[in-house]
Amino acid sequence: MGQPGPRHVILLGFMGSGKTTVGRLIAERMGLPFVDTDRCVEELAGMTIPEIFDRAGEETFRSYETRALRHALDGPPSIIATGGGIVTREENWPLMTSRGVTVWLRVGFDTLRRRLADSKDRPLLSGDTTWERTRRLYLQREPLYRRAAAWVDGEQPAEVVADTVIKAVGSLPDARNDRVE
Ligand code: S3P
Repeated sequence: MGQPGPRHVILLGFMGSGKTTVGRLIAERMGLPFVDTDRCVEELAGMTIPEIFDRAGEETFRSYETRALRHALDGPPSIIATGGGIVTREENWPLMTSRGVTVWLRVGFDTLRRRLADSKDRPLLSGDTTWERTRRLYLQREPLYRRAAAWVDGEQPAEVVADTVIKAVGSLPDARNDRVE
């Protein structure tokens, strides 16, 4: 007998790609729990994300994020919305791919920029950050998101994206290596 198939659906993508909105819809439609790793991080730390970055720095945030991911993966089969930087820690990859199907919500930078214009609670977009720096971060991250098992056009309305993810996941029964576009 082979290994059991992945249990969780893990949404990846840059800030503003719609992971939380789409994740909630998928969870509702599939009758599964929804987990947002950013909220788990805040619970674990007893601080908001801006406070963690401010007081303890990004590395500490990343450690909390890996703990939150492990915690989510140990729970019942769920739809998991991750933070945009979860892909940057190599140790998160074997955790995610062994326990779930990773799906990249692919959204172009111009659309993200429009969506993120009023963002207030994202430390990586605050302070003296310019759009040029954010664009560089996006370009650095893109090859990491490309490692996901499935890629979905995240520029469609959230309902459409949610249905597309459900279909993509359904066609990847053991989706560690296949890719659906
Ligand atoms: C981050 C994305 C945020 C949050 C934190 C860091 C990142 O999550 O985890 O501010 O490094 O891209 P969202 O992608 O949900 O905004």
